[in-house]
Amino acid sequence: MGKHCFELRCRSEVVNDENRVVIALDYTNETDVLAMIERLDPQRCRLKVGKELFTYCGPQLVQKLVDRGFDVFLDLKYHDIPNTVAGAVSASATLGVWMVNVHASGGFAMMKAAADALKDLDKRPLLIAVTVLTSTAQSDLDHLDIPGAIEERVLHYAKLAKEAGLDGVVCSAQEAKRLKAELGSDFLLVTPGIRPSGADAGDQHRIVTPAKAITDGSDFLVVGRPITQADNPLQVLHEINTEVESSLH
Ligand code: C5P
Repeated sequence: MGKHCFELRCRSEVVNDENRVVIALDYTNETDVLAMIERLDPQRCRLKVGKELFTYCGPQLVQKLVDRGFDVFLDLKYHDIPNTVAGAVSASATLGVWMVNVHASGGFAMMKAAADALKDLDKRPLLIAVTVLTSTAQSDLDHLDIPGAIEERVLHYAKLAKEAGLDGVVCSAQEAKRLKAELGSDFLLVTPGIRPSGADAGDQHRIVTPAKAITDGSDFLVVGRPITQADNPLQVLHEINTEVESSLH
C-alpha cells in the first residue's frame, strides 16, 4: 500500500492489506508523540489524532505525521451546522489525512454536506461517522432520555451515514457483525474499545478482543491505552498484529 493512503481508491483496496491497527495517540505533547512514532513503522500501524492532542499541538503535528508516511485518522468528531462541518472536513483534506469523522447525531444534512465537500477532490480522506461512542452504556442513553436500545440507534445512524454518502462508521466491534450484514462489506467499520485479553478496560464499556473484532467484520481497530501505556508498546502492537493476521486468514 502506498504511503499516502488518502488517495481516493476502491474501498476493497483500502482494506486489502494487514495494516488494520490504528494507534490512538492520546498524548498531551509533541515530544511524547515523536518518541513513540520514531519506533513505529507506517506499514504496521496507522495513527489517530484526537481532540486532546490536536488542541495541544494543532495541524502542524498532523502534517509531520503525514510527512513521515503515516496514514492519519483525524478524529475530531465534527458536529455543527452543515456549512461549518463541510468547511472543517475540507480543511482536513488539505492536511493530507487518511480519514476524518463527524458525529452521525449531527444529522443527515450535516453528513451529506461533509460528503459533498469532499467528493470532487482528486485526493480525499475517507469520511466516517461516529454512531454511539463505545464508552456509552444503555443507562447513559436512558439518563439522557434518548429512547430505544443502543444497537438500534447504531444501526439507524449507520444507515443514515451510508445514505448520506459516507464511507463507513465508527462503532463498537460488538456491533460489527450486524452492521456488515446490513450495510455490506464495502461500508467500512472502524472499531475502538479493543482490548487484548486481560487488558484493563479503562472507561470503555463495549469492549472486544482484536481477533473477535476482525472475525466479526471490523476493518480497522482503534487501540489506545493498551499500546500507549504499555511497558513495551511495540511488543503489544506486534501481538495485536499477529492476532489480526491470523484472524484474516
Ligand atoms: O485508550 P483506548 O483504546 O480506549 O482509546 C480509544 C480511542 O478511540 C480514544 O482516542 C477515543 O477517543 C476513541 N473513540 C472511542 N469511541 C468512539 C470513537 C472514538 O473510544 N466511538
